[in-house]
Amino acid sequence: MRKTPDPLTRRALLGTIAALPAAAALPLPPSQAFRRAVPPPASAGEVLDVMGFEPLAREALPPAHFGYLATGADDDRTVLRNQDAFGDIEIRARRFVDVSHVDTRVALYGTRYAGPVYLSAVSSQRAFHPDAELAVARAARSRDAPLMISSGSSVPTDAVAAERGAPVWQQLYPTDDWEVTRALVRRIEEAGCPAIVLTVDTMPGRNNETLRRAMAADSRTCTDCHVNNNHDMWRKAPLYAGLDVSRVTTHLPMDLTPAYLDRLRALVKVKLLVKGIVAGEDAALAVEHGADGVIVSNHGGRNEETLRATIDCLPEIAAAVRGRVPVLLDGGVRRGTDVFKALALGATAVGIGRPQGWGLAAFGQSGVEAVLDLYVRELTQIMRQAGTPTLADIRPERVNRRGVR
Ligand SMILES: Cc1cc2nc3c(=O)[nH]c(=O)nc-3n(C[C@H](O)[C@H](O)[C@H](O)COP(=O)(O)O)c2cc1C
Repeated sequence: MRKTPDPLTRRALLGTIAALPAAAALPLPPSQAFRRAVPPPASAGEVLDVMGFEPLAREALPPAHFGYLATGADDDRTVLRNQDAFGDIEIRARRFVDVSHVDTRVALYGTRYAGPVYLSAVSSQRAFHPDAELAVARAARSRDAPLMISSGSSVPTDAVAAERGAPVWQQLYPTDDWEVTRALVRRIEEAGCPAIVLTVDTMPGRNNETLRRAMAADSRTCTDCHVNNNHDMWRKAPLYAGLDVSRVTTHLPMDLTPAYLDRLRALVKVKLLVKGIVAGEDAALAVEHGADGVIVSNHGGRNEETLRATIDCLPEIAAAVRGRVPVLLDGGVRRGTDVFKALALGATAVGIGRPQGWGLAAFGQSGVEAVLDLYVRELTQIMRQAGTPTLADIRPERVNRRGVR
């Protein structure tokens, strides 16, 4: 009988084979077989899947900028877990349903959008393309997608909103100086943002080794990103321009307790969402202290190496929130089927981070449009196949955890 090699021996063997010159001739899994043979896409619309934009962005960007987009924390394993964990969830398709009309539209805070995929906060987008956040806003406009602007946006919020042609959500790093927080909130509300998204997962001191390695491989001096050699967001991003930031030392106060949420809630007149929740207890606290929405996020695995994928955090958070406010999710969403799974497990919409950067770096506005198109096209397809013509039909019983029936 043929013996299955144990995984370590197998890995060692594969490593040796990969190092041989003939490796390219070995049979590849069917999904990979033709990737190398295909000529590079001439336009964004020719890229077949969201992950197909990643190597194009890598090619287009200098090492430090690609490293900034790609990096996780420590060994980047949480980045990978976010993606891989979707593979542990199966879709239970049903037949005998009329799927002649599939409707992907979603209503969020009183506004209807074409699909349940939003562009999550990604800072410093001038590092990826000269048109930066303006190109992303134009793509969001043409595809009718929700847009969350980062505190570290290279372009002022009102200019982004003007290109989007509709109000945008503003992500907030409030700093550890309450006077600055107050001024930021006023500034954001005056810019007409209907929602402020407080990110709660970015304490100082994260270990972004991939970024540091990429920076070491890059000898350019980048004045586009580091005005007067400043790396601190509050010293370079337009959102903070003109404020007295001399007492600021971090993005977030170190005493970010429920009392801080109360204080911020009393200040913010528009919707307040909390981003960076990975435990049911914190989701319940956020809602009890006035949050209008909870975003299940580990910052795309960029802050801490927990190895816990956001899709695995979602069920306990949906259970704790009990439908009182919308639950959103980001992290590792790369396919329409991933969107489907997140919706089935309790999310109202999902956010994308790196994929918008890949599309932007590779093709500018049309790259971001193509990325959004892929999600909605793939989602439409799986909704038709699974017998769920509306988002409301995508319920928990439409998914199984692998091996659990
Ligand atoms: C380059 C980059 C910059 C980011 N900047 C911010 C930010 O300023 N504020 C924030 O709340 N999240 C930020 N994020 C996190 C994203 O909003 C989102 O949570 C995460 O990227 C989702 O995971 P994904 O990249 O796997 O899609 C950033 C992510 C990336 C990749």
